[in-house]
Amino acid sequence: MYRAPRGTSDILPQEQAYWRYIDKKIVDLCQLYGYERIDAPAFEDTGLFLRTVGEETDIVEKQMYTFKDRGGNKLTLRPEGTAPVCRAYLEHGLHNLPQPVKLYYIASIFRYERPQAGRYRQHYQFGYEAIGDDDPALDAEVIDMAWQFFLSLNLHHLSLQLNSTGCKKCRPRYLTELKDYYSDHTQELCSDCRARLKRNPLRLLDCKKPSCQQLANSAPKSIDYLCPQCDEHFNRLKRYLSLLDLPFAVNPRLVRGLDYYTRTVFEVQPEAEGAQSALGGGGRYDDLIEELGGKPTPALGFAAGIERIILNLKQQGVPIPPLPQPQVFIAYIGDQARDGAVKLASALRRAGIGVSEAISGKSLKAQLRQANSLGARYTVIIGEQEVTNNTVILRDMTTAQQKTIPLPQLERELQ
Ligand code: HAM
Repeated sequence: MYRAPRGTSDILPQEQAYWRYIDKKIVDLCQLYGYERIDAPAFEDTGLFLRTVGEETDIVEKQMYTFKDRGGNKLTLRPEGTAPVCRAYLEHGLHNLPQPVKLYYIASIFRYERPQAGRYRQHYQFGYEAIGDDDPALDAEVIDMAWQFFLSLNLHHLSLQLNSTGCKKCRPRYLTELKDYYSDHTQELCSDCRARLKRNPLRLLDCKKPSCQQLANSAPKSIDYLCPQCDEHFNRLKRYLSLLDLPFAVNPRLVRGLDYYTRTVFEVQPEAEGAQSALGGGGRYDDLIEELGGKPTPALGFAAGIERIILNLKQQGVPIPPLPQPQVFIAYIGDQARDGAVKLASALRRAGIGVSEAISGKSLKAQLRQANSLGARYTVIIGEQEVTNNTVILRDMTTAQQKTIPLPQLERELQ
């Protein structure tokens, strides 16, 4: 027996109500904030991700699904959604439009991770990017949109964490300080962090090992090393967030798993659990488009994992509206009635009335049971006598009351 590959899952019909609920909230939210949908391919040139996500990141080092196609092209299943959107922005000349260009996506993401609850090898992200403006008012809008998204889903007990990691002017000085600090404590670091120290010291700040966390608590903070422009940007952003009444907390240890971030980084996390279970995260990436060959173009964005949202909706017991089901079930007794049932089902559907039916002959009792389990509001019953009289029996499934009506009247009655 084949099974779904490790770290992937089937989204069965009983789960779909969650997905449609979230889809609808996304569409409404993006309309409110003026974002338009973009869908990029599921795979890209491997170089796109090497260039942007960063060669020293876990994603590039260990998690990419990379392959050569039959034409010898080196391709990678997207391990994140930002770089493809920036590639599309440049490829289609979107920089010629009024800026910022605001785009959103719902896309499958592929990372070769160790599967566990909330961590999969294929997951889905809702993400959005605002490209072409560096004003902190845009950062505030992007963060506000993320926060409002979770509120609109009826999720509570979340925290909004914020940090600024500086720019290419001020970060080198900070990284030197950070390396100096950690160099005095290499014995206390886990083996992963010891390896990271040379290549990507920022990542030491979010190691989950207790001894590394303790060290991170006393480590130098990036916000103390910001250049005047980054400092001003961060202060204005905090002021806007306060104006919007957003309950943010500055977390000097917040760094993200992708290298393209500059200045603002933020995450939304469930209050109850550790930072590993972020529901969503994002930030600025002011150098990324230039890195891809474009003009210097400031930008920022956010993405949330849909499976993690669903886990939290379930944990918090948020009621989800059921998906609409056909309201009418057609039951028939005997071969003669069957022709009529087939015709009637099709006629009602053409009139816009959703219908389920018992396809092959079962007892009337079994058919009514099926109608019940499908949640049908009415069952139309056709027997030999009804065929002869050109009538049907209409049964109200909540009251179990039945009446006989002429067939030509049925559609109007149901409407
Ligand atoms: P990220 O933090 O790597 O950011 O992923 C965004 C969200 O996707 C995470 O907060 C989490 O909810 C979900 N997620 C990540 N990996 C997994 C996984 N293996 N299984 C289940 N869910 C997962 C980005 O990808 C950036 N592109 C976000 C961004 C957009 N930054 C700027 N614009």
